[in-house]
Amino acid sequence: MISCSRATAIAVIFTMVTAGPGGAQSLPSARKAILDGYAAAAKQSDPGFHGFSAAAGQAFFLAHPGVSQPETPSCSACHTTSPLNAGRTRAGKDIAPMAVSRTPNRFTDFTKVERWFTRNCRTVYGRLCTPQEKGNFITFMESL
Ligand code: HEC
Repeated sequence: MISCSRATAIAVIFTMVTAGPGGAQSLPSARKAILDGYAAAAKQSDPGFHGFSAAAGQAFFLAHPGVSQPETPSCSACHTTSPLNAGRTRAGKDIAPMAVSRTPNRFTDFTKVERWFTRNCRTVYGRLCTPQEKGNFITFMESL
C-alpha cells in the first residue's frame, strides 16, 4: 500500500516580518517625549516649575475664558465636558475622545499636537497656550 503524502498543517510557513527592537517608538514613550519637551520649556520660563497638574489641566479644559466667539467658549465646547466621550466639530463631525485610555494614540505626534494647540488655544483663549498649560492638559488626559 502506498502511503499517502500527508497534507500537513505546516504546508506553508509564513515569514513574519515584524518591527523588531529599534522600530517605531511605543505610543507611551512618544507621549512622554512630548511632555518632557514641554517640561523643559516650562522650567526655562519658570525656574520654580514643579511638574504638571491634572487638576489644573481639567480646570483649563473646562474654563470659559470669555474671549472667543459664542460657539467656542471653551475646549469642552467641541470635546464635551468629559474627555472620555467623543466630541463633535462645529460642522458636526465626530472627534475621537481626548482621554488617552479611550484613544491611545492621542498626543503622540508632536506636529499634530502643536498644530491643534495653536489653533484651539487661539480660538478659545485668544492667545497661544504656555508649555505649562499644554503639559497640564495632556497630564489630565492621561489621568482618566
Ligand atoms: C471648534 C472645535 C474645537 C475646540 C473649541 C477645541 N478643539 Fe481641540 N480639536 C478639535 C478637532 C477637530 C481636533 C482634531 C481631530 C482629532 O484629533 O480627533 C482637535 C484636536 C486637538 C488636539 C490634538 C490631539 C492629538 O491627538 O494630538 C489637542 C492637543 C487639542 N485639540 C486641544 C484643545 C484645547 C487645549 C482646546 C481648548 C483651548 C481645544 N482643543 C478646543 C476641535 C476643537
